[in-house]
Amino acid sequence: MTTSALDEWAALEKRGLDELQGCTDEAALRAWHTRYFGDKGEVPAMLRKVSTLPPNERKAFGQTGNVVKTKLTEAYDLALANAKEAALQASLSAHPLDVTLPGRPVPRGRLHVATQVMRQIYGIFADMGFQVYRSREVEDDETNFGLLNMPPHHPARDMWDTFHTTTPGVLLRTHTSPGQIHVMREFCPHPIRAVLPGMCFRFEQVTTRSEMQFEQVEGLVVGPQVTMADLIGTITAFARRLFGQERQIRIRSSYFPFTEPSIEVDIDWPKDDPNADRLTKGTGWLEIMGAGMVHPVVLRNGGYDPQQVSGFAFGLGPQRITMLKHAIDDIRQFWANDLRFLQQF
Ligand code: DAH
Repeated sequence: MTTSALDEWAALEKRGLDELQGCTDEAALRAWHTRYFGDKGEVPAMLRKVSTLPPNERKAFGQTGNVVKTKLTEAYDLALANAKEAALQASLSAHPLDVTLPGRPVPRGRLHVATQVMRQIYGIFADMGFQVYRSREVEDDETNFGLLNMPPHHPARDMWDTFHTTTPGVLLRTHTSPGQIHVMREFCPHPIRAVLPGMCFRFEQVTTRSEMQFEQVEGLVVGPQVTMADLIGTITAFARRLFGQERQIRIRSSYFPFTEPSIEVDIDWPKDDPNADRLTKGTGWLEIMGAGMVHPVVLRNGGYDPQQVSGFAFGLGPQRITMLKHAIDDIRQFWANDLRFLQQF
C-alpha cells in the first residue's frame, strides 16, 4: 500500500482538529462543519479518491477514512456543545436573573359597577321567582308607544324624548316597557314573572343626573288575581334587600298610560346620611321607580284576557340606584370609562 494515501488522511485529521481549535463560537463551528462534511467538503472529496486506488488498497483506505471521520465528528460535537454552554453562561452573567425578586403584578379585571348592581337586582328578583327576559333596543314605534296604550299623537308620548332612525317607525327604545309586549306575546297564556333589563335611549340634554343612554329594569307579573298588594309587597321586599331591612316605602299616585292605577314609589333615606338633605330635597323620601297595575288594553295587546288575568309592572333605573348606594354624583361617569372611577368599585 502506498503510504501517501493514508498520510493524506492523517494530514486531513490534523488540519481539521487544528482548525476546530480556532473556532471560538457556534457560527465558526458550523462553517467548519460545512467545510469538512458538506457536499463539497474535504472528507467526502477524500473518500471519493478511493476509486483511483488499486483495488487491494481500497479497504485500508476506507477503514482509515472512517476512523478519521469519527474522530472529527466527535471533536466537532464536543466543541459545539462547549460553545453553546459558554454562550449560555455569557448571556446569564450579562443579564443576571434574580429569582428572588417579587413578580410583576398582573392587573386584575373586575365587573363594571353597573353590571354589579344589575346582577344584584337579578339575584333579588330571582329569589322571588322572576326570570330575566331580554328584548331589543331598536324598537318599532308601535311597540314602544302604540301597544302600550299610546296611539300616535297621544300627548303622553311627550314624556319620552325619542331618537328616531331614518327608517320611518323605527326608533331607539325610550324605556324597557315595550319588552312587556314581547314577553307577553311569547308566554301567553301562561302566567309571567319576569324582569326585563336593558339599555334605553332618550334625546335629552346630558347633565350630571340624566344621560342619553341608561339602563332600566322593567318588572312584569301577569296571572290570575294579581293585585296591588302583590305589587307593593314585591317592591318593599326588593327595596329592603337592596337598601336594608329597616327601610320604609311610600306610594304616591301617578300617571302612566300603560298602567291603571299608576303609582310612584319612594324610599325613605337615613337621616344620619350627610347627603340626605341634598338627595331628598329636604323631604326625607327618594323616588326609586314607577309602577302600577297593567292596563287592560296592554294585557289585551299581549294576548291576555283582562277578565281572566291581571298584572302589575314597574320600571326602575339601576344607575340612579347605584348612585344612591355608592354616593356617585355624576351619572356620566358610568359610560366615561375612566379607570379612576371604575377601580373604586
Ligand atoms: N316606562 C316608564 C319610564 O320609562 C317607567 C315605568 C313606569 C315602567 C310604570 C312601568 C310602569 O312598567 O308600570 O318612565
